[in-house]
Amino acid sequence: MTSTEQSRRKYDALVDRYEEIFFYVADMGRRLVEVAAPQPGARVLDVGAGRGAVARAALVRGCVVTAVDSSGGMVARLRSDHPTITARQLDASRLDFPTGSFDLVTAGFVVQVLDDPTAALAEFRRVLAPGGTVALSLERQTVGRLGWLHELNAEFFGSPGEPADALSADRLDTLLAKAGFDQLTRTEVDIPKPMADPGALWNWLALQGVPQALDTLPPDRAAEFRLEFFAGAERMHDEGGIVLDFGATLHRGVSAPE
Ligand SMILES: C[S@@+](CC[C@H](N)C(=O)[O-])C[C@H]1O[C@@H](n2cnc3c(N)ncnc32)[C@H](O)[C@@H]1O
Repeated sequence: MTSTEQSRRKYDALVDRYEEIFFYVADMGRRLVEVAAPQPGARVLDVGAGRGAVARAALVRGCVVTAVDSSGGMVARLRSDHPTITARQLDASRLDFPTGSFDLVTAGFVVQVLDDPTAALAEFRRVLAPGGTVALSLERQTVGRLGWLHELNAEFFGSPGEPADALSADRLDTLLAKAGFDQLTRTEVDIPKPMADPGALWNWLALQGVPQALDTLPPDRAAEFRLEFFAGAERMHDEGGIVLDFGATLHRGVSAPE
């Protein structure tokens, strides 16, 4: 199976739970559109739209929104949730739109999951009208105060490790400049998410399939994981509260004249 097919299946499987697990995307979508500041009536293309966190923020501002995603499940859900958005199943690096069709191209938390961000940025520039704006968000990897949980996961399930080629904010700005964007700006955003108690943290992990993962362990190891999880979560709760530390950078650029 190709990595593109794997990605499609992954996001198809996440459609219904996506914005519950990734609780921050709705807020980040609004902030990304604020940074881009499109005028009412602007033609906006949201790439890798998912459930529409960015696209619906653009709709609220009165933009004419087209959304694309490589996951058929996400596109079907976008169409039923937001009939006024034109939604299509397309790959970010092969956008089937004429040159210069949009005033703003957005992509929320997408460039870091692409095999070839350079090809996608070239497409974003191609479909933008001269002087058009690109606005992208990039997740900032922060373990924060959940180091103990990462260690626990690594102990029981093995460490996924950090992808060697994870896209950094500096690298993204470099790629944007190379793709022909200038007037680059970058905004750092922190969104800490407090969890009421250990049970709430467990429920959040359950959304991500942790109980199913535990079923793959021998029963005594699964019981051990639960014990250690709740001990760690109780400790964090008592020592100032359970908080998921999440951060992102919002990148904006303008398509420079050829
Ligand atoms: C992390 S999600 C972000 C969704 C949404 N933009 C948001 O902010 O909530 C990444 C999205 O990009 C889509 N995606 C992944 N690879 C893609 C590709 N090559 N072309 C288009 N969309 C892609 C996924 O299906 C998924 O919906």
